[in-house]
Amino acid sequence: MRSKLTAPAIRARKVRNGGEPLVMVTAYDAPGARMADEAGLDLILVGDSVAMVVLGYDDTLQVTVDDLVHHTGAVVRGLASSAPDREAKKPFVVADLPWMSYHTTVVDAVSNAARLIRAGAQGVKLEGGRKRLAVIEAIVDAEIPVMGHLGLTPQSVHAMGGFKVQAREHGAALELVADAKALAAAGCFAIVLEGVPDEVARMVTDAVDVPTIGIGAGPGCDGQVLVYHDVLGIEDRIVPKFVRRYADLKAAGVLALSAYAADVRSGAFPTDAESYHLSTEVAETLGIYGLVPAAI
Ligand code: KIV
Repeated sequence: MRSKLTAPAIRARKVRNGGEPLVMVTAYDAPGARMADEAGLDLILVGDSVAMVVLGYDDTLQVTVDDLVHHTGAVVRGLASSAPDREAKKPFVVADLPWMSYHTTVVDAVSNAARLIRAGAQGVKLEGGRKRLAVIEAIVDAEIPVMGHLGLTPQSVHAMGGFKVQAREHGAALELVADAKALAAAGCFAIVLEGVPDEVARMVTDAVDVPTIGIGAGPGCDGQVLVYHDVLGIEDRIVPKFVRRYADLKAAGVLALSAYAADVRSGAFPTDAESYHLSTEVAETLGIYGLVPAAI
């Protein structure tokens, strides 16, 4: 039987110590959160990927703290109204600190992290290595669990020259390991590794005592994360190599909406059984004597 995950419990979940791999998915709204909960996932990430998979932007730079607060609230309300028998096992909710919410001052970073916690998140995630240490330490000092994010960090898309696999070279691989060690020492309770070679992800995973959660980082991490719209096949325009689709909800949705449109156009929807009716008494007061509404 699973017990409720906390930041310290997540921090202790290393596969090399016998821990089961952590399973995280993104979610941005109440129905998505309820599905992740009922599926028994360990963590939900209210990711800034909401910008791309929900809001139609080309990158994650377009969303703000207000946007993430809005979506975090929806996720947390969804979990609150999810199956009560799962109360003790609800996923741990991490919210992304969006671009420019922790890049100016440490004070801004802590107060933006606090806004996400007040919206219901149990921890925050931010991107970057050693240059973010002061911010990470300040947020941790404010008693807010911080998840790190290294490798392909989408908020650096322009600086990286695109969404490109990182740490392919000797020096960059060693830098990544050093970043991960620094993040763990600064108090991060877990580290997302995105878009790095399997071998490098394994080096990092071996080097730190906190769990690594991979996305496009191979099977050697302590857990995996995927974007909700990718796992469920709602997003079908781009299929990165690391995505495995477990459903084709876009195709199922198009089929269902086409059937709905056909039924409306042919008059097959709605039926009498799908309509509300007046009581006989009220119908009589309105002068409707056994006439179907269409005939009035
Ligand atoms: O926002 C997001 O979806 C993420 C994952 C890619 C880890 O940060």
